[in-house]
Amino acid sequence: MLSAVGAVDYVKDVLPIMKERCWKCHSNEESVKGNLALDDFDEVRDFQIGPYNIIRPGNPEESGFLEQLKLPPGDSDFMPRKGDPLPESEIKLIEKWIAEGAIVDAKKPSEKEAAFMAGGKAPVEDEKLKFHTWTNTEGRTIEARFVRFVDNGVTVVMRDGKSYVVPMEKLSGDSQALAKRLAGVE
Ligand code: HEC
Repeated sequence: MLSAVGAVDYVKDVLPIMKERCWKCHSNEESVKGNLALDDFDEVRDFQIGPYNIIRPGNPEESGFLEQLKLPPGDSDFMPRKGDPLPESEIKLIEKWIAEGAIVDAKKPSEKEAAFMAGGKAPVEDEKLKFHTWTNTEGRTIEARFVRFVDNGVTVVMRDGKSYVVPMEKLSGDSQALAKRLAGVE
């Protein structure tokens, strides 16, 4: 089911979960561990949400915040520390929130959030941060992130962090076009 961007937002949907499960250790109201105050919305928006932060709009797979909730409870990074894992339904909701742009308060959006909600680009949409599917001339595919355009080729990095230079002539037409688009050399 498709829903409008911002239909799920932090204040309305995620905050109640945080209040119940994270407040003791992550709120100015009680105490702030790991420099994470979930009741300071401006801070959450400015410092926890972003393309390189723990909440990556449009990119739940790479959001450390979500990852920590999904870890096995014995893991030292698992959250909530000393608590039971969040139920699947709550994790799914947080995932949806991040996938839909991690809007903090749909009623009081920042400029970027408002632009996004009006149908523009994701607040921090950056295609270069995403994993794309690349196809070679033999029809084989890999999942990798674009790094840079080099002489006659493209440097990509795989999910395991290894990077490769793929010669342009080894890529399918579509993947060549993708590389050029990401490099801005259309
Ligand atoms: C009993 C206390 C406690 C509870 C409850 C708790 N946390 Fe934490 N959390 C911590 C501590 C302590 C750290 C710092 C960990 C460290 O530095 O090793 C931390 C760190 C984090 C971090 C990493 C912050 C960063 O930028 O590295 C995230 C994300 C996080 N917690 C999310 C949550 C969420 C979401 C919840 C509720 C579902 C939660 N925590 C519940 C104690 C708690």
